Amino acid sequence: MKNHINKWEAKKMESCIATWKSPSNIALLKYWGKLEGQLPVNPSLSFSLSEAYTITKITATPDKMKAGITALNKNPEHPFLQKIKPFWQTVIKEIPLLKDYCIEIETENTFPHSAGIASSASGFSALALCFLSLAEKLSGNQLAEQDFFQSASALSRQGSGSACRSVYGGFTVWGKTALWHNSSDLHAIGINEDIHSDFKNLHDAILLVSAKEKSLSSSKGHSLMNNHPFAGGRILQANKHLSFFKKALKEGDFNLLSETSEAEALSLHAVIMSSAGGEILLQPQSIELINRIRTARNKGLRIFFTIDAGPNIHLIYPEKEKINAENFIQQELFDICDKTKIIFDKTGNGATKIN
Ligand code: PMV
Repeated sequence: MKNHINKWEAKKMESCIATWKSPSNIALLKYWGKLEGQLPVNPSLSFSLSEAYTITKITATPDKMKAGITALNKNPEHPFLQKIKPFWQTVIKEIPLLKDYCIEIETENTFPHSAGIASSASGFSALALCFLSLAEKLSGNQLAEQDFFQSASALSRQGSGSACRSVYGGFTVWGKTALWHNSSDLHAIGINEDIHSDFKNLHDAILLVSAKEKSLSSSKGHSLMNNHPFAGGRILQANKHLSFFKKALKEGDFNLLSETSEAEALSLHAVIMSSAGGEILLQPQSIELINRIRTARNKGLRIFFTIDAGPNIHLIYPEKEKINAENFIQQELFDICDKTKIIFDKTGNGATKIN
């Protein structure tokens, strides 16, 4: 990857504002386990969402005395500042021209913090996009669009791995793989040209079993892959699943897509359960939902599930199956998951700049 960021030099010191809207994403192939520098032990594949996003505005004011992030939503003591401040160190290493600026962040999510949707993906990608826009304005050096998004993806990755997939719309792959010549461990790539028209607009109905904070943080989860007895097998399997996903998504093969997605989600939980400490994140309702989804699919409904590192079930279906799938949810899942606990989302177009 070309390193566009470090070449930038400040032309002027002046106040500057950048605002971006960036979505969350749902991984069908899971990133689980990392190496130093927030590099993945296996490739992952996801699609960006449309309704679950973060809007972030950053105001940068030249001020050596107050340099650094001083407030989040006007609160200098905001608890999330502890999560963002380590990322600031990465930002000023990559974009040194920002180091003498006082940074104020205003941010809001369209989904509740505890909704079981990864807010770190939308949150860190929105931050990275804003910081890069500020760098462009202050250096007077505007990148070509493709280079801008690639740099934003690489910077987002250093805040939260899955965030690097959020800057692009539709489907993305993150992690070096022989299956895509331009893939990289440093940033995600868009793969929409490899997606069959049936799968371009997948829906994701998020069935909330629990809206509590995750009992296993992703940083702890990733670290459990170090010295995991099944790590080698898991990494081989993830790479094999990627080749199945590529084939299924390209050929419009629903059976292969659904089988691979569910095998992948259950493998993530198997690895979590067999880690030191043996966490069980699925709850009885999660298992009941899985069983009902599989029974309905066996009767011909084109639906399948994926699960992140928590108890909530993501029910995925193609656009063509929307009416039948949503009737099924209403008739057969409302007793486990009432309608206030279902978030209806779908494939989205990626991050956008707000003027
Ligand atoms: O980006 P992180 O560190 O929050 O890890 C994300 C892990 C999973 O959501 C379980 C999988 C993924 O690829 O999104």
